[in-house]
Amino acid sequence: MGSLIVLASGNGSNFQAIAEYFNNLNTHTISALITDQLSAYALARAKSLAIPYYVVPYFKKDRTTAEKIMASIISTYNTDLIALAGFMRILSPAFINQFRGKIINIHPSLLPSYPGTNSIARAYEAGESQLGITVHYVDEGVDTGTIIIQKSIPRAPTLEIMTERIHQLEHETYPRILHSLLDSQ
Ligand code: GRF
Repeated sequence: MGSLIVLASGNGSNFQAIAEYFNNLNTHTISALITDQLSAYALARAKSLAIPYYVVPYFKKDRTTAEKIMASIISTYNTDLIALAGFMRILSPAFINQFRGKIINIHPSLLPSYPGTNSIARAYEAGESQLGITVHYVDEGVDTGTIIIQKSIPRAPTLEIMTERIHQLEHETYPRILHSLLDSQ
């Protein structure tokens, strides 16, 4: 039985997809959501899914304290895997070292192209004929860790439709990958 914790800063649609998927499993559990943002919509989703949630703000940008609190929550649940899902903070090398090989991220581009923010729009506006997503291990860089899987789909007629399809692809892919990583631990 594996335990998964999700870190999210905003909307939380990936968190919800993961939670719904794991709630239907009897092998592994989603233990909690951690967010750095009190206004994150992910919190409302956690409440309605009855998943424990923790708000850990980065007061005055104090990353060390916030990470210590997150690490203690993560340890409390004997967490096997930490899934970043729109978590908008850069984790310190110390935190990454503490949980090396256990932190996973999803990014809405075919890395190494378009790391950072606004990736779907940047890829679309650059005229790419294939866009996609990447699930990868988290290392000290921004969207640079070892790639676990990539999936691509053809360019859609509008950026709006493209964005919707990319998110749909994320929701279908991320929970399954997390499941198989937990299976193989
Ligand atoms: C997703 O596109 C994810 O790939 C990226 O941030 C976005 C989060 O969306 N890292 P949501 O909060 O899960 O809806």
